[in-house]
Amino acid sequence: PETITVQELANRMAERGGNVIKTLMKLGVMATINQVIDADTAELVVEEFGHKAKRVSDADVEIGLVSGPDTEAEMMSRPPVVTVMGHVDHGKTSLLDAMRSTDVVSGEAGGITQHIGAYQVQVPSGDRITFIDTPGHAAFTAMRARGAEVTDIVVLVVAANDGIMPQTIEAIRHAQAAKVPMVVAINKIDLPEADPNRVRTELLQHDVVVEEMGGDVQTVEVSAKKRMNLDKLVEAILLQSEILDLKANPDRTAEGAVVEAKMERGRGSVATVLIQRGTLRVGDTFVCGKEWGRVRALVNERGERVEEAGPSVPVEVLGFNGTPEAGDDFIAVEDEAKAREVSGYRQRKDRETQFVKSARGSMEQMFERI
Ligand code: GTP
Ligand code: MG
Repeated sequence: PETITVQELANRMAERGGNVIKTLMKLGVMATINQVIDADTAELVVEEFGHKAKRVSDADVEIGLVSGPDTEAEMMSRPPVVTVMGHVDHGKTSLLDAMRSTDVVSGEAGGITQHIGAYQVQVPSGDRITFIDTPGHAAFTAMRARGAEVTDIVVLVVAANDGIMPQTIEAIRHAQAAKVPMVVAINKIDLPEADPNRVRTELLQHDVVVEEMGGDVQTVEVSAKKRMNLDKLVEAILLQSEILDLKANPDRTAEGAVVEAKMERGRGSVATVLIQRGTLRVGDTFVCGKEWGRVRALVNERGERVEEAGPSVPVEVLGFNGTPEAGDDFIAVEDEAKAREVSGYRQRKDRETQFVKSARGSMEQMFERI
């Protein structure tokens, strides 16, 4: 249900808090200045003051924030966004590192040096792939829990000497729940005890039917350590991407999601944002979760400043007024007034939710003592 604090209600009517409390008393409601009251009560108070109540809901402030669908003609192909998942020690990090070194741009420009939570590689064919560099399903679920669905393809890493393990099963469940297709990388095939076919059979028990068994899930036998078949894995990812026919309109205001964010000395709040639609440019004003800002600089995975970032491009954004959280939405808006309005509204909402939670907590404590 919609709620508002007494203080906020007083602010919006430009009345003294004390007067609002008195009016509430008259209506038979005992409240303090920080207390949360429901929208119906608030409306009665507003009318007592001789104002006309106009409820501002999520929809009012957030309406039009995310622009409508794009036309077919505006949609352009975009690179796939890939998350690597799998059991502990099966080689997620090794595989990400190996894939990173397939980048052809790095040779010329000094390599991907930055750790920015996500990076894009250009493979020899000229195609691009974006990797989320926070392996593990914890990051995947944390982002999904915040409503951010950035992953197009999950690369499930299974060590060929170990087979399906508890976290492999968890990763499969997450991918299935999110309806994200998988490509299975059967890793560590350089080991003498590697048994890729056992992996394929075990997958079947978890509703993952690989191509060799008549299904549509691709498997690739790789060795991250010996750099075997990395090109085949790239091919499999690109093929899956082609099947998905991934498209976005680059020619509109930017929308994306935060992959990671931190406070850095000398740089302020910095976030790695994955652009999902539109193009973000230096100077753009944006809302991001409860925060807002103006793009002061954009930095790519090679530590170079760039002027803009389009669909599927991960980029470090500088110019935040506060630190957002992984999974927060990122939306470019027309001006600072809009950014402040939305950010202010989201912060109020958050404070109210926090207050209700802590009030509930202290109530429970009270009853415990009784
Ligand atoms: P966590 O992050 O701890 O979950 O592990 P991970 O999945 O990232 O695995 P990581 O890449 O750290 O690799 C774990 C171990 O397996 C390391 O000792 C790697 O050297 C080894 N390893 C990774 N890939 C291969 C491979 O292809 N062959 C062999 N023989 N060893 C590998
Ligand atoms: Mg790792």
